Amino acid sequence: MNITEAIKKLKKEKNAVILAHYYQYPEIQDIADYVGDSLGLSQMAAETDADIIVFAGVHFMAETAKILNPEKKVLLPDLTAGCSLADSCPPEKFKEFIDAYPDHTVITYVNCSAEVKAMTDIVCTSGNALKIVESLPKDEPIIFAPDKNLGQYVNKETGRNMLLWDGSCVVHEAFSLEKLLDLFKQHPDALIIAHPESEEHILKTANYIGSTAGMINFVKKYPNKKFIVATEVGLLHKMQQAVPKAELIPAPTKEDNTCACSECAYMKVNTLQKLHDCLLNESPEVNVLKETREKALVPIQRMLDLS
Ligand code: 13P
Ligand code: SF4
Repeated sequence: MNITEAIKKLKKEKNAVILAHYYQYPEIQDIADYVGDSLGLSQMAAETDADIIVFAGVHFMAETAKILNPEKKVLLPDLTAGCSLADSCPPEKFKEFIDAYPDHTVITYVNCSAEVKAMTDIVCTSGNALKIVESLPKDEPIIFAPDKNLGQYVNKETGRNMLLWDGSCVVHEAFSLEKLLDLFKQHPDALIIAHPESEEHILKTANYIGSTAGMINFVKKYPNKKFIVATEVGLLHKMQQAVPKAELIPAPTKEDNTCACSECAYMKVNTLQKLHDCLLNESPEVNVLKETREKALVPIQRMLDLS
């Protein structure tokens, strides 16, 4: 039996579901029951009736699934699948920050630890950040964390002045404006699409800004076009399936690497073999302390209710 068949067999025997993010390796996306963005994945995690959730993504995503499903086993193929954005917001430092502004409502982007979510009023994702912020009165003082680039983008779009935590994603800050403009000169007929974790100067060039799922929905409107895509390169797998005739070009990064494209090293620690082994051994498992879990559930549920 090959590894794909073995995973399918184990999944059936154990009543498990595999949820995968768009940044996972193509072979992982192909075996998953559901592939999506952070919002879609948390919605699927909230709905599933499986006994085991295998989260092919990064740690904060598996934690969110566990918070929504305390009675289920949540597995992550490799526990080192972290996130630079989540790491940029240590809970102790974040507590000091929010304590200094007690009158502010706290919105956190889902890319943060369960401890940080537990100090939050509402969680958001890149797919619903504008909607979540707009759900609050215009004059409400808000702290937005941890992504300063997404925060700046939301401030600009909504005309707000949210106080921003100084965090960012290494992958989305790796794009080179200079190389992007050079690439555009070679492909002046292309549309530029970007994830809002990218820096402001990259976002300024974009014809569309949105979450990974939003970017796929956008390209579907122009199935024969050419696109320069500023996000993690794993997204191109499902995107190309959605628009087989479109030409998809990964946005170039500052560093000269072999593929000239941007890969999230955290997302890419998961492999098909590790996915198989974690399902077989039902380990490594992601757990969240009861007190943290109960506090973090409130802002996650608020987000799901508003979405
Ligand atoms: P999405 O919400 O678009 O899936 O983004 C998740 C992420 O980690 C982007 O870096
Ligand atoms: Fe975190 Fe960036 Fe990787 Fe997304 S792409 S998981 S934000 S490090």
